[in-house]
Amino acid sequence: MAIATELLKPTSRAEAALLEQIDLKRLPRHVAIIMDGNGRWAQRRHLPRIAGHRAGVKIAREVIETCARLKVPALTLYAFSLENWRRPKAEIDFLMRLLREYLKKELPSIHRNNIRLLVIGRAAQLPEAVQKDIEKAMRLTAQNTGMKLIVALNYGGRAELVDAFNSILDRVRLNGLAAFQADEETISDHLYTAGLPDPDLLIRTSGEMRVSNFLLWQIAYAELYITDTLWPDFTRERLLEAFVNFQQRERRYGGLSSPHETGNGAR
Ligand code: IPE
Ligand code: IPE
Ligand code: MG
Repeated sequence: MAIATELLKPTSRAEAALLEQIDLKRLPRHVAIIMDGNGRWAQRRHLPRIAGHRAGVKIAREVIETCARLKVPALTLYAFSLENWRRPKAEIDFLMRLLREYLKKELPSIHRNNIRLLVIGRAAQLPEAVQKDIEKAMRLTAQNTGMKLIVALNYGGRAELVDAFNSILDRVRLNGLAAFQADEETISDHLYTAGLPDPDLLIRTSGEMRVSNFLLWQIAYAELYITDTLWPDFTRERLLEAFVNFQQRERRYGGLSSPHETGNGAR
């Protein structure tokens, strides 16, 4: 059996100590992250907000690499919400540029590492150049069998449910299924995340106690990990801490604690 330190070379004693505590068999199967706090990070340094976004991209890279090396099957990053259009145009333009820059620079290494890139959200409303870049990235990595890296872009959880309901209704109309009844699986299968396991760990940086319209259906039983650390400070060490914390949680899915457990929980 592989141990975590064989997959990931620790760069500090603290990382080594954390890696030793990690049980690879019990890592989350899907980690979802609300990457928040870039603006505050910059503000504390008397820098413009965009400097925070730049630093945030660097940390995203580190988090992606760490998850891929530890063989986490799926990682979803909340990069731009439907509500983020309320920000000043200059900041939005910068975020879109940054995304394109990131893809241009990182796509070869994403592909080399057998990572499959997926984008969820209302892509059609993104600038055309961004749409082209993400289509290209998804096409290039479509056959990759390693970690799935899902980027939530122009994403909203309620919008996702609306889109799912409409696509179910379309199917019903198209096939004349008068007696059709939806169940949980029908809904899951029509979400942007169809085919992915639900996140079992939801991380939010910067301490805000809210889910900000992220993966509303999918996080029904996710463990929540909210840290005051600002996103650009969420280093590998902080991520490993989150994993160790996750492994200490007792997941009950509405049942009883483990000595009494009879079934295998919800999944
Ligand atoms: C998260 O950082 C990045 C995006 C939402 C794109 P913020 O920009 O929300 O940073 P704060 O919350 O203002 O500190
Ligand atoms: C959530 O962060 C969205 C992303 C991380 C992309 P926000 O900063 O937009 O969320 P609120 O405004 O604090 O709810
Ligand atoms: Mg924020």
